[in-house]
Amino acid sequence: MTSAYRPLVFAHRGGADALPEHTLGAYLRALEDGVDGLECDVRLTRDGHLVCVHDRRLNRTSNGKGLVSRRTLAQLDEYNYGSWHPGYPADEELPDLSRLLTLERLLEAVRDSGRPVRLLIETKHPSRYGAEVERRLVGMLRRFGLAEPKPDDPVQVTVMSFAALALRRIRAQAPGVPTVYLLELLPPGVGKGKLPFGARIAGPGVDLVRSRPGLLPAMRAAGHRTYVWTVNEPADLELVLRHRVDGVISDRPKFVLDHLAQM
Ligand code: G3P
Ligand code: CA
Repeated sequence: MTSAYRPLVFAHRGGADALPEHTLGAYLRALEDGVDGLECDVRLTRDGHLVCVHDRRLNRTSNGKGLVSRRTLAQLDEYNYGSWHPGYPADEELPDLSRLLTLERLLEAVRDSGRPVRLLIETKHPSRYGAEVERRLVGMLRRFGLAEPKPDDPVQVTVMSFAALALRRIRAQAPGVPTVYLLELLPPGVGKGKLPFGARIAGPGVDLVRSRPGLLPAMRAAGHRTYVWTVNEPADLELVLRHRVDGVISDRPKFVLDHLAQM
């Protein structure tokens, strides 16, 4: 690269384009590819475990059916979470690409990787499930020594949410953990650069960046960093690089890394 600018590159759901999303195998591959960080969504099981699953239901990303929140961890563990994906190698026995991933297992893997890793954890659905998701998350971060981050910690956790309520809970329980306010639309005041409850980073979707060209400059002027999702197409990558965003969250992190290497 000729300029010093280089955004952080995050593997969205582990890099959901090439491999089954939210599987340990996908996350480990993304780390091998050289990403700066990983993005994952967390939900609560019926017996209070945090699992890495995006949808409310199992149907799209496993061979099971029904609500994640109605099953215990042991029940959820019975399904295959990789075979639905075109990138799943059918003739191999690869537990890391087919097993349900718990947040605890992901944190262990990230810690044991020996690499500096930024982990973006998005809590799903704070209004539907009450404060329990954030409470359990902060408890787990404490157990891993990640709730009071120091700049030289190899693993740095940032919590993200579309819901200001979730950011408020994280701020109350773990004020040192940075937060991202995710934006699909633009709530009042946010367009001028105001983020709720101490959020330090704005996380707009790339569609919003396209339709509101003033948004990222306003965020920067207000002193916030910007992580944009989900940047999968060359034109979108060009757009966010022109804006000099701080982080690019992509289902195709290898494509982003290769593009940056050629700049
Ligand atoms: O990184 C933020 C992005 O993941 C938000 O959208 O629906 O993919 O969780 P979603
Ligand atoms: Ca997400």
